[in-house]
Amino acid sequence: MVKIFLDTANIDEIREAASWGVLDGVTTNPTLVAKSGRKWGEVIQDILALVDGPISLEVTTTDADDMIKQGRQLAKLHKNVVVKIQMTTEGLKAIRTLSKEGVRINTTLIFSANQAILAAKAGAKYVSPFIGRLDDQGQEGMQVIREIVEIFKNYDWDCQVLVASIRHPLHVIEAAKLGADVVTMPFEVLKKMTQHTLTDVGLKRFLEDWKKVPQ
Ligand code: G3P
Repeated sequence: MVKIFLDTANIDEIREAASWGVLDGVTTNPTLVAKSGRKWGEVIQDILALVDGPISLEVTTTDADDMIKQGRQLAKLHKNVVVKIQMTTEGLKAIRTLSKEGVRINTTLIFSANQAILAAKAGAKYVSPFIGRLDDQGQEGMQVIREIVEIFKNYDWDCQVLVASIRHPLHVIEAAKLGADVVTMPFEVLKKMTQHTLTDVGLKRFLEDWKKVPQ
């Protein structure tokens, strides 16, 4: 079954989504933590306490040795931490070293199937293709997901396709139809997934009719 992650550092959103019983994990990035306006350490501790599932925390260094050092520190924080590493050649070196040590890696800023192939070969447990950003510039993001899912199936690789930069509920449906392992999305998209006007109309009618039933 497709796993649902929230792509946020907003603790209220995470708490609410977790209470619905459908939240499998959380992805964060420096932009999302900055948006929260809170201290990084506090946000991360709150998320780790709320969700018992993979929590992606991103390194903020670009040199392989620094990424490895930071990745080790992040991984030590909690068993659920997945270290998010950028798709660069330095990143590949860090992925190889850290994954050999048993650290789970989510490779971020993936925009092509070739980048996903390299990240998986380096030992990443997840690849995160950013489909919304591709759509934004007139390229079909979902085509990249289609290619990656097909390629990974051919080789039975132990690397999950984590569809990121999701903008709307249709992205979720398309990703699930293609058999992507994980979708990570803003809270607003998850909320929209729960809604349908016919559900609201139907509920209103049921409640009105219930009042007519002799008690
Ligand atoms: O966290 C990675 C990705 O989901 C970012 O999405 O909306 O900034 O393109 P976005």
